[in-house]
Amino acid sequence: MSAAPERQAWRPEALLGRLVVLRRHRPDNIRAFVRWYADPEVARLTRYQPTALSIDEIERFFYSRILGTDFLAMAIHVRESDRLIGTCAFSQLDGDNGSALFHITIGEADAWGKGYGTEATELMLAHAFTQLPLHRVALTVFEFNARAIRAYEKCGFVVEGRSREAILRDGHYWDEIHMSILADEWEARQKER
Ligand SMILES: CC(C)(COP(=O)(O)OP(=O)(O)OC[C@H]1O[C@@H](n2cnc3c(N)ncnc32)[C@H](O)[C@@H]1OP(=O)(O)O)[C@@H](O)C(=O)NCCC(=O)NCCS
Repeated sequence: MSAAPERQAWRPEALLGRLVVLRRHRPDNIRAFVRWYADPEVARLTRYQPTALSIDEIERFFYSRILGTDFLAMAIHVRESDRLIGTCAFSQLDGDNGSALFHITIGEADAWGKGYGTEATELMLAHAFTQLPLHRVALTVFEFNARAIRAYEKCGFVVEGRSREAILRDGHYWDEIHMSILADEWEARQKER
C-alpha cells in the first residue's frame, strides 16, 4: 500500500488457527511451489492457460511475488504436524480504497476437503479486517471450482458478478465468478458466532 516499513508491520510472523497455522514463507518453500504449480489439476483449477506453469515461471513468481513486497503471502501449514500444504496471499493491496485481492492454493491434493482452506481464508480475513486497514477483500474463481466456491461462501464471500463464459475448460465455456466480502459484513458474522 505505501511505505515499505509499514508494509513489514502488516506481515505477521504467524496466524494461528485450530487446524492450520499460517507462517511467513521461507526461501526453501520454493521446492513445494515447484511441485504444486507443476500439477495439471492445480493448473486446471487456477489458470486461464490450459497448461501448468514452467519451472522458470514458478521460480519467478515465487521470488518476485511470494517473497517480494507486492504480495502479502503466507504459507499454510497443518497445525498438528507443521506440514507445509499451500499458500495464500493478498495482492493488489490498495491503501487508497482499502481493498485487496485474495488468492489461495492448497498444493497438496491429499489435503483438500479437510477444512484447511476455509480456515486459512478465515485467518486472512481476520487479519485483513482487524490488523490491516482493509474495507474490502475480493477474489475470482472459475465456475467449475465448486469446492473453492463453497469454501469462500463459508467464509462470507458473496457473488458480486460474473465474467460470462470467460474460460474454456474441458470442452465448455465457464464463467469467472467475482466474489467479495466487506468489513462490515465480516464484523456482523463475528457477532453472530
Ligand atoms: C479451494 C481450496 C482452497 C479449498 O480448500 P479446502 O481445504 O480443500 O476446502 P474446505 O475443506 O475448507 O471446504 C470445502 C467445502 O467444499 C465442499 N466441496 C468439496 N467438493 C465439492 C464439490 N465438488 N461441490 C460442492 N462442494 C464441494 C466441501 O464439502 C466443503 O464444504 P462443507 O464444509 O460445507 O462440507 C483448496 O481445495 C485448493 O486450494 N484447491 C486447489 C487450488 C484452488 O482451487 N484454488 C482456488 C482457486 S480460486
